[in-house]
Amino acid sequence: MTVTIVGSQLGDEGKGALVDLWGGDADIVVRYQGGDNAGHTVVEDGEEYKLSLVPSGAVRDKIGVLGNGCVINPRTLFSEIDDLRERGLDPDVRLAKRAHVIMPYHRRLDNIEEEAKADSDLTVGTTGRGIGPTYEDKAGRRGIRVGDLLDPDVLRQRLEYVVPQKKALIEDVYGLEAGEECDVEALVEEYTEIGRRLREDDMAVNCGDFLAERREAGDNVMFEGAQGTLIDIDHGSYPYVTSSNPTAGGAATGTGVGPTVVGQGEVVGIVKSYLSRVGEGPMPTELKGDDRDEELAEFIREKGGEFGTVTGRPRRIGWLDMPMLRHAARVSGFTGIAVNHLDVLAGLDEVKVGHAYELEGEERLTMPATTERWGECEPVLKEFDTWPEVDWAAVAEEGYDAIPDAAQDYLEYLSDELDVPIYAVGVGPGREQTVHIENPFDD
Ligand code: IMP
Repeated sequence: MTVTIVGSQLGDEGKGALVDLWGGDADIVVRYQGGDNAGHTVVEDGEEYKLSLVPSGAVRDKIGVLGNGCVINPRTLFSEIDDLRERGLDPDVRLAKRAHVIMPYHRRLDNIEEEAKADSDLTVGTTGRGIGPTYEDKAGRRGIRVGDLLDPDVLRQRLEYVVPQKKALIEDVYGLEAGEECDVEALVEEYTEIGRRLREDDMAVNCGDFLAERREAGDNVMFEGAQGTLIDIDHGSYPYVTSSNPTAGGAATGTGVGPTVVGQGEVVGIVKSYLSRVGEGPMPTELKGDDRDEELAEFIREKGGEFGTVTGRPRRIGWLDMPMLRHAARVSGFTGIAVNHLDVLAGLDEVKVGHAYELEGEERLTMPATTERWGECEPVLKEFDTWPEVDWAAVAEEGYDAIPDAAQDYLEYLSDELDVPIYAVGVGPGREQTVHIENPFDD
């Protein structure tokens, strides 16, 4: 059995809480894309762990796999693993040999390019982790893969080819000085040592084979998508996107299992009850402009803790956007959804949803394919009755019927519009503050 978890908005939907909750029934948790641009917080036995690369399941004695669709910064990985070890855990993390490695020059170039775009509309507001440049090299067939770190001769050969190109880019195109990120000898030394550690700890695997064997042995697998549908390189608001596929198709290409395997399992879209966005790009339902909207955004931001886990940046806030969710449900083929942060909207004077868009006098239920057209869309807002602040811990214990009626109407509207059941409702930040409806691992 497989369960794939997908962010249905702009990332930061609170996927971690559900991965955490249902991951208890998984034997293996596999990330299929992204790198240390994703931040998640796991609370176990009262201890808080902030992770950006190690899959959260690894904190709970599950095998955590970083699939071939991921880009891996070994410095981040080992610093997170070493931290966890110091805190008494022994995480079992495996890396796909086909996954690409984020090298120091990728990070440098990510920052240089953002800086170069700073005064234009083209700034993406990346996390600066070298994600885009690493995927560029993957597609350009000049990347370094985890498997290359295990063979010093191959590693040297690849670095001797690629590093002069990066140096020329930094110096001749951007007119800056290249530094130690372009020192081939230093890189060979550091990354050979990383390869030695990977081999010694038996961490590098052929991901597709590894998962096939474990599935044959009866293991349950959870595929954990990072980021969200609207920052998918293909289906998101290009160019304000990350460079990978957070949508469910990525679970197959990013791990080496067939799409039929992913499709036979559950694909659960994680939805936040409102919208947040870190970084640039359109957001038709954004709360901004007049004082009342700005105040509301500020209130939701503070209450929902809407500040980037990786970068600390304040997130932009908006009402739930249904055309976006219809698009997400279609692209990934959701079999169910989980709705988070319902408590954050409690006690507001108004609750609205962007039910549709208006574009050139026409009403549309889904998103235009280009970001420029999307930016021209005006939301057609639907107003809901508000719900009061209640004892959410008690609601989580009592179950769905204890959710205030107006909030149930809101949830039912969502479920009807997307034509999928709701499996869980998040009513607070902790794992236990979740209203359970159905566990996707149950037959
Ligand atoms: P990159 O992934 O660092 O290249 O950033 C590209 C875009 O994706 C930027 O707008 C980032 O803010 C956004 N982004 C990347 N990772 C996350 C995430 O985990 N949550 C939300 N936004 C993200």
